[in-house]
Amino acid sequence: MATFTLPKNSKITGKSQRHTAPDANRLQKFKIYRYDPDSGDNPRYDYFELDLDDCGPMVLDALIKIKNEVDPTLTFRRSCREGICGSCAMNLNGKNGLACTTAIEDLKGEIQITPLPHMEVVKDLVGDFTHFYAQYASIRPWLQTVSTTPSGKERLQSPQQREQLDGLYECILCACCSTSCPSYWWNSDKFLGPAILLQAYRWLADSRDEMTGERLDELEDPFRLYRCHTIMNCANVCPKGLSPAKAIAEIKKMQADRQA
Ligand code: SF4
Ligand code: SF4
Ligand code: FES
Repeated sequence: MATFTLPKNSKITGKSQRHTAPDANRLQKFKIYRYDPDSGDNPRYDYFELDLDDCGPMVLDALIKIKNEVDPTLTFRRSCREGICGSCAMNLNGKNGLACTTAIEDLKGEIQITPLPHMEVVKDLVGDFTHFYAQYASIRPWLQTVSTTPSGKERLQSPQQREQLDGLYECILCACCSTSCPSYWWNSDKFLGPAILLQAYRWLADSRDEMTGERLDELEDPFRLYRCHTIMNCANVCPKGLSPAKAIAEIKKMQADRQA
């Protein structure tokens, strides 16, 4: 499902630059969002051509090649290059995803690359995660206990208790889901959004955590949790195949069960 919505601060009226590759055997065109707030210029799209015979297979390979060989000012985040760190999340032909695990050949035609939708842009493809991380901190994403740890021992889980964390612990906090969620676009000041709610459920589902009631109290709010209207964009874009919508439904069920 295409979820293309322009990032914030983006009146795209800046003057484009074009970089061609006339001798390419396998020509691939890229249209890339550029914005440098410090320049005072409006955002723009720049156009780049690459020869796929001379480029790695993934979108991140193309971005690195452009940065190394064509325009060193092109700015984007990346680290692990294998879908683990979450830092290369961006919008590719209208759908959020990871540049390092998205094959160029799986995208059709000219490839349009923009930052994650509805985020303030720091520069080019780099969104501002300040608010997202503050929301993450607000759910206290660590094990909270009141009982003393069995002396000299870890807090153990049975295999069945550990299984409850499958589908949750794999989240890499890339924000692909939250920035594709219409409810989050319009209410991100108050709605926690799918990524943070999946993380909240990760601790609610942990058999070792002893703050379940307090965590549910924090989430019992018309905006923080209940702005999810089950639109399901989040599950459709998650590059790790997770379903934040399902986690949100589980939290709502826990809230309903304790009020029953
Ligand atoms: S299911 Fe909820 S959290 Fe996911 S995209 Fe829809 S409204 Fe957003
Ligand atoms: S649930 Fe998926 S899309 Fe959302 S932040 Fe985690 S890994 Fe990214
Ligand atoms: S570079 Fe780490 S997920 Fe893409």
